[in-house]
Amino acid sequence: MKIVVVGKGGREHALVRALAESPGSPELFCFPGSDAILESARPVPADGLESLVEWMGANAIDLCVAGEESYLVKGEGLANLCEKAGIPCWGPHLQSAQLEASKEFAKKFLERHGIPTAKACACATLEEAVEAIGGRYPTVLKFDGLAAGKGVAVCMVEEEAVEFLDEVFVKQRFGPGRVLVEDFLTGPEVSIFAAIVDDQYLVFTPARDYKRLGEGDVGPNTGGMGAVASRRLVSAELLAEIEQDIVQPTVAGLIRDGLPYRGFLYFGLMLTPDGPRVIEYNCRFGDPECQAVMPLVKGDLAGFCLAGAKGELRPDLISFDEGWSVCVVLASAGYPESSRNGDVIRGLDQLGEARVYHAGTRRNAAGDWETQGGRVLAVVAGASTRQAALAAAHTAADRLAFDGMQRRRDIGICNFED
Ligand code: AMP
Ligand code: GLY
Repeated sequence: MKIVVVGKGGREHALVRALAESPGSPELFCFPGSDAILESARPVPADGLESLVEWMGANAIDLCVAGEESYLVKGEGLANLCEKAGIPCWGPHLQSAQLEASKEFAKKFLERHGIPTAKACACATLEEAVEAIGGRYPTVLKFDGLAAGKGVAVCMVEEEAVEFLDEVFVKQRFGPGRVLVEDFLTGPEVSIFAAIVDDQYLVFTPARDYKRLGEGDVGPNTGGMGAVASRRLVSAELLAEIEQDIVQPTVAGLIRDGLPYRGFLYFGLMLTPDGPRVIEYNCRFGDPECQAVMPLVKGDLAGFCLAGAKGELRPDLISFDEGWSVCVVLASAGYPESSRNGDVIRGLDQLGEARVYHAGTRRNAAGDWETQGGRVLAVVAGASTRQAALAAAHTAADRLAFDGMQRRRDIGICNFED
């Protein structure tokens, strides 16, 4: 089987490795890939979406796996173009990927299908937004478009809201667009991933992402400083409630709205005192949750994705390890405001049992790995208990170093019950 994975980060490195470990040793290709990914997959000689799909057609590719979301919503959409070319694609069509690309689209979908979420109001002007806030703080403001992860402001006080609204409506930092004014919710967050094939789904191992830079969940928001994954992260009762109230109505809603969906759907949930609420949808696996979850997936992931892309959900092809997996992210100096390239990474040959996925690295002229981006590496270890998994992941992370390295030492330590 010939598979192309689309993307270049730590998530795609984990996907490529998991697919490569599937029985039958599929032949892996990646676009655009990274130096590390291209050690397990071959590069696709393309320079954009159209040439990528053309190359897949010409090279008898059996399956395209969308890792990152950007190509799903570019031009005509990766999945749409694959369909035209007759290439099975694991990743949704452009119309369906609006669930991630437009917060207003997602909110209307949630409301239309009665799926629990925070109440929100879409505002076209600064004045409308101020009126919708109505002096109630904390409040949550979300720019309705792609904003490189900077489009959400949780405002505890009026000054923060004024600053964000000024950025959006006066400085137009993200370009033109509306703002959702959303009720502020509280509670722990959990990431649920479902593999959706038309009207069927399979829930993967739940995960938790550590979004803040600092230990104890303080400091600026990041792309994720680590993750923990386990079936036992949430109770069986809570998972059943999430499936019934959130996953099933989402799958039914996609069908009712005529939104084709074959791929992973990520439910970002907040476990509020009134029950789980959807904070966001993403039309892909999470990063760094994917790096934590993939080592727990056993069986034939490649066969599972191929069957799914062709319209058949095959839960019999995979199973999930019942243990725990902990992923510790190592970030470069300056992250998340900036990042520093060129710091040489030491210790990659001393990891023992742990896995390491590369998110932002390159090989330099001397053949050494060095930083190239904000999040640099994800170190992942698993065990039958959370304590053992986190000890193994942190011990492995201790062996890695580069100048300016940033890392949280509490990844995996706090659990929902703590
Ligand atoms: P989003 O990009 O929508 O996932 O939002 C980024 C982060 O903002 C989330 O992970 C939450 O921590 C926080 N957030 C989003 N919506 C809300 C909300 N309604 N109430 C409280 N926090 C929120
Ligand atoms: N872990 C958050 C995300 O993938 O968006």
